[in-house]
Amino acid sequence: MNKHGFSTKAIHAGQPAEPVTGAIMTPVFLTSTYVQEELGKHKGYEYSRVSNPTRTALEQNIAALENGKHGLAFGSGTVAVDAIMHLLKPGDHVILSWNVYGGTYRIAKMVWEDFGLQFDFVDTTNLQNVERVLRPNTKMLFIETPTNPTMEITDLAGAAQIAKKFNLISVVDNTFATPYLQQPIDYGFDLVVHSLTKYLNGHSDMLGGFIVTNNDAYNEKLRFLQKAVGGILSPFDAWLCLRGTKTLAVRMKQHCESAMQVAQWLKTQKKVHKVYYPGLVDHPQHELAKKQMRGFGGMISFELGSIDTAGTFLKKVRLCALAESLGGVETIITHPATMTHAAIPAEQRARIGVTDGLVRISVGIEDVEDIIADMDSALNH
Ligand SMILES: Cc1ncc(COP(=O)(O)O)c(C=O)c1O
Repeated sequence: MNKHGFSTKAIHAGQPAEPVTGAIMTPVFLTSTYVQEELGKHKGYEYSRVSNPTRTALEQNIAALENGKHGLAFGSGTVAVDAIMHLLKPGDHVILSWNVYGGTYRIAKMVWEDFGLQFDFVDTTNLQNVERVLRPNTKMLFIETPTNPTMEITDLAGAAQIAKKFNLISVVDNTFATPYLQQPIDYGFDLVVHSLTKYLNGHSDMLGGFIVTNNDAYNEKLRFLQKAVGGILSPFDAWLCLRGTKTLAVRMKQHCESAMQVAQWLKTQKKVHKVYYPGLVDHPQHELAKKQMRGFGGMISFELGSIDTAGTFLKKVRLCALAESLGGVETIITHPATMTHAAIPAEQRARIGVTDGLVRISVGIEDVEDIIADMDSALNH
């Protein structure tokens, strides 16, 4: 499938017609086990914690979209991040982007620190900050770009180069961008992690996580972890996500187009103090985003100045849903300080711009005029 375009791979990679009946859709293999002909003789599947044909189809599909060799599907994005931390040993040090998803911060500080891992969170928009905190025991560089929720962009080529120079495992959380907008494996990253829950599935009806790698040794260790720890994706959720990836390209095009219109409208609003969207020319890394992304994505954050103004706005929206999560076809509005980033201490939140007045919007693919009308009504009337 490698010679085909993105949309063709999204629809066909990992999904040949089912050999017994010719069904064009990959079936949901709701089975825990597989009958073996005799001792040691089976059709490649033994037990569904280890592998399942529906999960295999999704693993091949998303690996192809990320231009990667191996794909591994997990029960949530957080489980996938947890599996990555299992590649390290007590005493190892990890450098992360300072406004990674709050759950990534939480698992680092509140789970893995207790097992002897050490973490530094730095502003990776300036890669000198990475070199500044390097230690002899630094083993991993974990970046998110665009970051959640202030949409900071890290230079993928530069970060991959630093990781290579200092022999660090390089990781990108590509949830916000999706492989449609950027493919970090092409820059030499070792691991790409996703919350499937967001754009890859795109319909807000399942939770899942994913890791892509070209590295055979990491793939082997991560497959061992799927078997040993068991944080795998269910066949039904794998099937739902396969439905989602088929339309990823068309959805992302619309998310990008509508988000640009919403961001431009927000810029004209008196009550909006600041708009964070990499597509705006005044975004500090706009040129970098233009260089390394195929579009600017569907996520915007904006500053309303106080929790009261933010609270009133969030209470008044009708079409836009006040909810956790992002990346679905519907528009979802979130208050990061009390929702997605609540696990981060207030002092650290203030440092990274996650203020009480900050609102994040995942622009859906409804008619953009309706999204703007709803926001206008909530903000101004
Ligand atoms: C950027 C990012 N990474 C990882 C996760 C974790 O994924 P999940 O909720 O599927 O565990 C999220 C969830 O919001 C996210 O936004």
